[in-house]
Amino acid sequence: MGYKMTVNGKTRLCGLIGNPVSHTMSPMIHNHLADRLHINNIYVPFHVETEELQQAIEGAHALNVLGMNVTVPYKTDVIPFLDEIDPMAKGIGAVNTLVRTEQGYKGYNTDMTGLCRAMQTEGIRLDGEEIIILGAGGASRSVAYMCLYYKVSKIYLLNRTVEKAQKIADELNEVFERDAIIPMSLMDFDRIPVKKYLVIQGTSIGLYPDSEACVIEDPCFYQLAHTGYDLIYRPFQTRFMEKIEEAGGVSYNGLGMLLFQAIDAFELWNHIEISDEVAMETYELLKAETKKA
Ligand code: ATR
Repeated sequence: MGYKMTVNGKTRLCGLIGNPVSHTMSPMIHNHLADRLHINNIYVPFHVETEELQQAIEGAHALNVLGMNVTVPYKTDVIPFLDEIDPMAKGIGAVNTLVRTEQGYKGYNTDMTGLCRAMQTEGIRLDGEEIIILGAGGASRSVAYMCLYYKVSKIYLLNRTVEKAQKIADELNEVFERDAIIPMSLMDFDRIPVKKYLVIQGTSIGLYPDSEACVIEDPCFYQLAHTGYDLIYRPFQTRFMEKIEEAGGVSYNGLGMLLFQAIDAFELWNHIEISDEVAMETYELLKAETKKA
């Protein structure tokens, strides 16, 4: 990729903190956006060791680093070192974007605002809807929180280990003061009232190179879906997505979420709004990159 940017005395630095960071597509997205919009920023990956996380954040602030993304394994560990935290990120308990303030950094969760925006872009509604979420790991918990925050009326939360779904249901039903989450075993999907739902796939099953795997094999399950949203984007078309389509539903992968978490972060750092046209163009770039691997 040839960036036309020139580094000069006014260039601002942004970066990604994680371990590992070598496979990230974030530099590609952010440097493309800066280049495209003539913003004098540069974005680089920072491999940070656990015991140096606090120093890394304090050091970044001292160096006047404008913004940071945070990835695995630090999305929760970073919270004690922030000066301020956005309410949704606080509720989720995970932060992936830091915005510089005078005193320190303010943390946001643009993974979830980005997922919400990606779904909105596709015309997928949350307000007042009943949905199904597959999985009860960190990702599915964040998705459940975000969906309740944006007022879904009911979530069937299905997991292999039902106790983990139960734990999330207990926690979030209390936070949102309503019995919105119904925890279930993956095998019990036939207890879900028969109609059409948005189904969000939040497990790691089907992720490359295990691309043939699917969290629920039974085709009957997919009759419950008008839309399937897989958080996975490698492969570009997962087995889950294929099964949704075979049952007559519409399916999406997680690339839109990846795009919009970056766009939301970029907008927070630079106080601008990115147009649909630039978003689409960046999406095409990402898609080409994903298909290379
Ligand atoms: P993440 O933080 O990405 O959500 P995680 O916390 O390890 O990752 O969660 C992984 C999810 O994938 C869990 O819902 C897990 O189910 P369990 O809670 O029962 O372990 C699910 N998962 C992983 N491998 C699975 C498999 N072979 N069959 C069913 N579910 C699986």
